[in-house]
Amino acid sequence: KKDIRILAFESSCDETSTAVIKNGREIESLVVATQIKSHQRFGGVVPEVASRHHIEVITQITKQALEQAKASWKDIDAIAVTYGPGLVGALLIGVSAAKAASMATGIPLIGVDHIMGHIMAAQLKDEIEYPALALQVSGGHTEIVLMHDPIHFEIIGDTRDDAAGEAYDKIGRVLGVNYPAGKTIDEWAHKGKDTFHFPRAMMEDDDYDFSFSGLKSAFINTCHHADQIHEKLNKYDLAASFQASVVDVLSHKTMRAIKQYKPKTFILGGGVAANHGLRDRLAEEIEKLPSDIKPKVILPDLKLCGDNAAMIGAAAYNLYNAGKFSDEHLNADPSLEL
Ligand code: KG4
Ligand code: ZN
Repeated sequence: KKDIRILAFESSCDETSTAVIKNGREIESLVVATQIKSHQRFGGVVPEVASRHHIEVITQITKQALEQAKASWKDIDAIAVTYGPGLVGALLIGVSAAKAASMATGIPLIGVDHIMGHIMAAQLKDEIEYPALALQVSGGHTEIVLMHDPIHFEIIGDTRDDAAGEAYDKIGRVLGVNYPAGKTIDEWAHKGKDTFHFPRAMMEDDDYDFSFSGLKSAFINTCHHADQIHEKLNKYDLAASFQASVVDVLSHKTMRAIKQYKPKTFILGGGVAANHGLRDRLAEEIEKLPSDIKPKVILPDLKLCGDNAAMIGAAAYNLYNAGKFSDEHLNADPSLEL
């Protein structure tokens, strides 16, 4: 059987990335150009700044991805690109580059959903057996996803307000941590204790949805109140208390979903999948399940949790096998749904 090589583009937010992926499983090259420094002084991603940076680097990193994979265009079987969800101007840079490359070379084009990509970072680590279940947690999304097969996904739980990563970034700002704050808060959490007992919203509700805005408000109120009475709170305990609340609700609902749907594989995906507290708790809870309902657990490599083109290439391989190609009408869709 012939090897299938996919050149993938990702530009949905503040990372421009290209990769060459073999057979949906093997990373032959991966280049990630991050713009985080340019956005930090604004405390978040500035869409216009993001688009400009994507344009500056995208052709250069396309060449690099091909060179590192020791591939030329004739070795590429498909060109994949994230077309949503994300920032429309940012997405358009990747979509335009991929369409131009596809038109110039005649190589088929595959549009990929960014969230499907995050989940498929798992495929670069291990074989996924279906049905599978994913907890997909990033800066923009917090979802429990039932995966019937490699391309048919169903969202069974979602956040009603903030995404988990967004909550990390917002409370991080209160503590004076640079955007994106998740990694630092995670590190601080390991040096503190859950002394504040923040709320755990919707934990006992009979669904798979989440809410993080109440937790965020409780956190901010606690900090403001302490400021007013000139009391200095321990930042490590604040971080540990916040993280304990997030990890409790995410793992509680995920475990309920695993018990109900009995997936063969469990996948953690998205930027917040890099969180050590969450990784450890889920692995531990799943380990305690009886063997007949214990799924295989895939926690993606830390460097593949954040935005990257390798995961897009992995997801595109499954679409390739299903014959799901795009044409020259492919457009960015900022609110694309799985
Ligand atoms: O998936 P991603 O790179 O971008 C989106 O598609 O949103 O996720 C970025 C998010 C940010 O909110 C960041 O603070 C969070 O992931 N994050 C973390 C950790 N590392 C990154 N959150 C908690 N713990 C971490 N270790
Ligand atoms: Zn992402």
